Amino acid sequence: MNPCEPTPPLRAVLIGASGRMGRAILSTAAQFPALCFVGAIASPHSAALGSDSGVVAGGAPNYLAVTGSLEALLPRAQVVIDFSAASATQGNLRACRLALKPLLIGTTGFPSGLESEFAAAAREIPLLIAPNTSPGVTLLTELTRIAARALPGFTAGITETHHREKRDAPSGTALSLAAAIGVETPIASVREGEVIGEHTVRFAGPGEELVLTHRALARDIFARGALTAALWLSSRPAGRYQMRDVMGFKTVT
Ligand SMILES: NC(=O)c1ccc[n+]([C@@H]2O[C@H](COP(=O)([O-])OP(=O)(O)OC[C@H]3O[C@@H](n4cnc5c(N)ncnc54)[C@H](OP(=O)(O)O)[C@@H]3O)[C@@H](O)[C@H]2O)c1
Repeated sequence: MNPCEPTPPLRAVLIGASGRMGRAILSTAAQFPALCFVGAIASPHSAALGSDSGVVAGGAPNYLAVTGSLEALLPRAQVVIDFSAASATQGNLRACRLALKPLLIGTTGFPSGLESEFAAAAREIPLLIAPNTSPGVTLLTELTRIAARALPGFTAGITETHHREKRDAPSGTALSLAAAIGVETPIASVREGEVIGEHTVRFAGPGEELVLTHRALARDIFARGALTAALWLSSRPAGRYQMRDVMGFKTVT
């Protein structure tokens, strides 16, 4: 290939294009010229069906209409980004597995019974399950993992706060923080106002307390993280990945 020839952008399909996260991803995509969207999916009954997805995202037209069928778009896709609804996760996973397309699942709240399907799919496609795509939370999770190992006599607790429309509780991020601690950990969930996302992990020991907090101040932190992760995932072999892999963290297991 001529070395001066520009590399064509990675062709991505976005599921959940009309939602809060989908709109943030579409708005942020201009910062990622290495990736372009060839599909913008909403629910089959979405009020956004047929609308220009750029306009739905609050920007200029991008001449990509919102549609309701993932299968029709998969042949052209090189990576699929899912920020939709937990009820759609299994169907999206099955479709991407059948079409052998890399899949980033940013959606949270799906049933834990999907675990064996995730494992089976990850033997055939690159699969990134990312309940939080922000770099700050990815680091918080690693710091939590380190603290839990380093402070074995301490008790841990997690508090998460999100906007009132968030469907799942506890948040996927809180569950992954609890998994990083590695023992049963109480999680308090608060739903109020417009809070984008706040997570606190508190370790308490005799005479001292360690408090780790992450606050999301804008949705584009998740959007930038998702687009970075999608580019990374598209060239990986089949396997199960996490955001810590995307960021290259190799601390403790
Ligand atoms: N990983 C992260 O960093 C991160 C960050 C924030 C949120 N999240 C998660 O991302 C998900 C979306 O959050 P959000 O706040 O954007 O939700 P939202 O505003 O409710 O948007 C949901 C989107 O999914 C679409 N949708 C619903 N059912 C669908 C189906 N069966 N098939 C295809 N599309 C469907 C909706 O379409 P219509 O409404 O137009 O019908 C809409 O576009 C949630 O699970 C949330 O917890 C993850």
